[in-house]
Amino acid sequence: MAIQWFPGHMHLTRKAIGERIKDIDVVIELLDARLPASSANPMLAELTGHKPGLKVLNKQDLADPGRTVQWLAHYNALPDTRAIGLDASQTTPARQLVEACHALAPNRGGMAKPMRVLICGIPNVGKSTLINTLAGGRKAKTGDEAGITKLEQRITLADDFYLWDTPGMLWPRIIVAKSGYNLAASGAVGRNAFDDEEVALELLDYVKRHYAPVLSARFKLDLDAATVADMQDEELLEAIGRKRGALLGKGRVNLQKAAEIVMHAFRDGSLGRITLETPEEFAAWLAEGEQLDAERRAKKEARGGKGRRAPAADAGA
Ligand code: G4P
Repeated sequence: MAIQWFPGHMHLTRKAIGERIKDIDVVIELLDARLPASSANPMLAELTGHKPGLKVLNKQDLADPGRTVQWLAHYNALPDTRAIGLDASQTTPARQLVEACHALAPNRGGMAKPMRVLICGIPNVGKSTLINTLAGGRKAKTGDEAGITKLEQRITLADDFYLWDTPGMLWPRIIVAKSGYNLAASGAVGRNAFDDEEVALELLDYVKRHYAPVLSARFKLDLDAATVADMQDEELLEAIGRKRGALLGKGRVNLQKAAEIVMHAFRDGSLGRITLETPEEFAAWLAEGEQLDAERRAKKEARGGKGRRAPAADAGA
C-alpha cells in the first residue's frame, strides 16, 4: 500500500526537539498500546540521542491486556528504558509518570536540579487528553514566554518537574509496510492518505487470525470462530457489510461503507480489546521492511537517483 501524507510541521517540530533536547533529562514517548512499535517514531532515537526514555503505552483500555504485558516486558528489558501502561480513565496519571521519570534520572529533583521531561507522540495517540489531565487547573505555558517556542508547551507538574510538550508528529517514510496499515487503522493518519477498503481488509486479515470470536460476536455473523478465521478477507468484509445493511442495490455490498464500519469498531473499542502486533511479529516485519528498503535504495542508486528526495511521503510498498 502507498500511504501518502505530508507530515505537517515535521521539520519545525524536529528542529524544536533538536534545540530543546540538550536540557532534557527524560524523553516520554506516548505509544498506542494497540500498535506499540508501529506508533513509535523511528526518528526519535536519532533526535534524542541516548536520553533515558519512558514508553507510555496509552489507550491501554482498548488493547489486549495480555499483549500489553508482553510489550511492557519488552521495553522494560531495554537499557535506560522504562514502560508503563496508561489510559484516560486514570485520573491521576502524574504520580506514575513522575515516579518513572525519577527512576530513570535519579540525580534530578529539587529546585536546584528540576526534572526536565519532553513528551512526544504521533497524532491521535491521546497526548492532548493526557496533557489536559496533567495540567489540571494550571494554565499550560505556550510560545508567549521567552525561551519557549510557539511549537512547545511547558507544563509544571511540580515545582521541580517540568514537562515540555511537542506537536504530534508522523515521519515521512514508513519502512515496515504493516505499520502503515496499523497506523491508518488506528486513526493516526489523515483519511485522505489511504484507501479505507485496503486498510479494513488488512485489519480483518489480522483480527480474523488472532481474534476471530470477536468478529463473529460484534457483527452477529452467525458463524463459528473457525469458519470466520478461514474466510477470505474480501468475503468477510462483504459478510459484515451485508449484515449491517451497507448495500448499494441489486444486493451488492457497499464495500466503502463496510470498511468504515470495521475501522470504526476497531477505533472505538467496540470490536473488543485488540492489539495488532507482538514484539516478535514486529521484529520480523522490521527485518523484512529493512531488506526491501535496502533493495529499493540499491535499485535507485543503480538508476542514478542517488541523493534525490521524493517530495511526498511514501509509506511502504
Ligand atoms: P492527540 O492529542 O494525541 O492527537 O490525541 P487526543 O488527546 O486528541 O485523543 C484522540 C482521541 O483518542 C480522542 O477521541 C480521545 O478522546 C481519545 N482518547 C484519548 N486517550 C484515550 C484513552 O486512554 N482511551 C481511549 N479509549 N480513548 C482515548 P476522539 O473520538 O477523537 O474525540 P472525543 O470523542 O473524545 O472528542
